[in-house]
Parts: sequence; C-alpha cells; structure tokens
Amino acid sequence: TPTPKRIAVTGAAGQICYALLFRIAKNDVYGPDQPVILQLLDLPQAQDAVRGVVMELEDCAFPLLVDTIITDDPATAFRDADAAFFVGSRPRSKGMERRDLLSANAEIFRAQGRALNEAAKREAKVVVVGNPANTNAMILAANAPDFPTENVTSMIRLDHNRALTQLAAKAGVAVDSIDRLAVWGNHSPTMFADWTNATSQDDSLSDMIGDDAWYRETLIPNVARRGISIIEARGASSTASAANAAIGHMHDWINGSDGKWGSMGVHSNGEYDIPAGLMFGVPVICTDGRYERVEGLTFNDFQREMMARTIAELQEEREAVAALL
Ligand code: NAI
Repeated sequence: TPTPKRIAVTGAAGQICYALLFRIAKNDVYGPDQPVILQLLDLPQAQDAVRGVVMELEDCAFPLLVDTIITDDPATAFRDADAAFFVGSRPRSKGMERRDLLSANAEIFRAQGRALNEAAKREAKVVVVGNPANTNAMILAANAPDFPTENVTSMIRLDHNRALTQLAAKAGVAVDSIDRLAVWGNHSPTMFADWTNATSQDDSLSDMIGDDAWYRETLIPNVARRGISIIEARGASSTASAANAAIGHMHDWINGSDGKWGSMGVHSNGEYDIPAGLMFGVPVICTDGRYERVEGLTFNDFQREMMARTIAELQEEREAVAALL
C-alpha cells in the first residue's frame, strides 16, 4: 500500500470542515487506494469540538483514514504535510470594520505562514479557503519565504462551479460539457465570471445563449451574490458547496483536469497586467500535479473594466495589510 498522505486542515471545528473532513477521509482528494492522515488545527477553545468531529470520523470506519492528529499548534498541524486546507479564519464580528477584519486575519496568516515554512514538505499543495481568501493566501506565502510561492493558492472554485451550473441551465446543456469558463480576481462580489471563451462541445456558449444582457445583468451579479442568497434562504452560509469546491480544487491540482479549464487563485507574476504579487483568480489547466495558467488571451473593453474593478479591490486589501508583508 502507498505511504499515507498527510493532509493538514485548519478551522477543523467549523462548519465547512464538518462537510470537508468526511470527504477527505473518504479520499475524494487523491482518489481511491491512497491512505490519508488528517492533521487538524483549531484554536485552544475549540479542541473539544474537534474531538467530537473526530469521534464521528471514527464512526464512519473509513478504510483509508489511518490516523488523525488534533492540535492547537500550527507547526504540529503542518508537519510533513503533503496538502493543506486553510479554512479557519476570523469571522467579522458585530461592528467590526473591514480593515480590522483584514488585519485580524493577516495576523493569523502571518503566524501560520511561518509555521508552514518551518514544518511542511516543500511540495505541499496549499489552498486558502478562509476569507478574505486571496489576501490571506498572499500573506501566508509572503511569510513562508522558503516555501514555493506557486504552491500557495486561494479558492475561487466555488464561484466557478456556481457559474457553470447557471450557464448550463440557461443554455440547456450538461454542466460537464462546459469548458473554457474563467473566474477572475477576488473571491468577493467584485469577482468576474467571464464567459468570453466558454464552450459547450466546442460551440461558443455566448453564441448559444445569445443574450449579452443576461450575462452582464443576471449571470455575473447572481454568481457574485449567490453566497448571500444562500444565507437568506438557509439561515446559514454555504458550507457543503464550499467544502465540495475545496475538494475539487485540490483533486484537480493533484490528479489533473483532463485539459479543461478551472479557476484558481494563484500568485500573479504580472500576467495580463494583474499587478505582481496579488493572489488572483485566473483560468488554469492542471496536469501531473501542476497548474498552468491559461496564456495568450486577449481582452475586450468590458473584460478590462471588470478586471480593473477586482484588481482595485485586491490592491486596497494589500494596502490595508502592507505592514505584515
Ligand atoms: P466557522 O466559523 O464555522 O469555522 C471557522 C473555524 O476556524 C472555527 O472552528 C474557528 O475556531 C477556527 N479558527 C479561527 N481562527 C483560527 C486560527 N487562528 N487557527 C485555527 N483555527 C481557527 O466558519 P466556516 O463556515 O467553516 O467558514 C470558514 C471560512 O471559509 C470563513 O472565513 C468563510 O468566510 C470562508 N469561506 C470561503 C469560501 C470561498 O469560496 N473561498 C466559501 C465559503 C466560506
């Protein structure tokens, strides 16, 4: 049998992890036959709650879950990790300013970046889910100087999946027939779900749907507001779909995407005039454990306008945490 993969998960007592951990333990990440060890991090006051979740994991008798570590020490959680899901973050409390939220999370991700730098395998694959995910991931990478920056990513896959389903429904096609969709920028209402290059069975989706007003005035805002719609309907935030997106992000990065586009928040080197250093949602193709940015795209005025909006927001976030970079 293969050596077990060590998967670190932060925020293990939280709502997303209540969906995520069971999917990892069943091994929806690496695929069948790969044993896994869960290394679970949460705050000291949440340790009992993590123990309760682990009791439930035990009660699933997952054949591939060979061990579980529970800790409040980041370096212990990240020790020799092959993959890490950074889900835990500080939620906005009543009356908290956006800037205070950014700096509270920046403190967390600075400390966790140092621990990642110290303890994880250099080839570990990292996805940041906890919001503000892009900026948290940027801080994490900046504070892990000996850890490869390209192995730190942030999650925009939930927005990608949301857009896929809405496009498939509008066009009357199967969701998995769609390719070449891109979601650019921040995981926030400024993110840009871009159908310009999207196809279904090689036919242009925008030609098939033929309704530019729907794209601009319904699809883009509905994807951006979907999280709020779910909170309004459910009385709680989207957690199972967020966990599913995190699984999809990591699964495709590890196992490949069969030549299809996905969207991942990755470190910008200045491609497409995205300022270098931002963690930015871009279209990627995954092969053999690596992601490659989709290159050679050209932009029309509408795309440029949408890109500028989400770039401006991420630059503001970066300025708010500049002292910690
Ligand atoms: P939650 O509040 O239920 O759980 C968060 C957990 O993180 C708690 O158990 C808390 O104790 C823990 N935590 C806080 N600070 C920590 C630290 N320094 N180290 C380790 N653990 C820590 O929240 P939920 O619903 O699980 O969501 C988690 C995050 O994911 C939130 O920031 C949420 O906004 C974000 N999110 C991101 C999405 C994306 O698409 N990128 C989608 C949905 C949610």
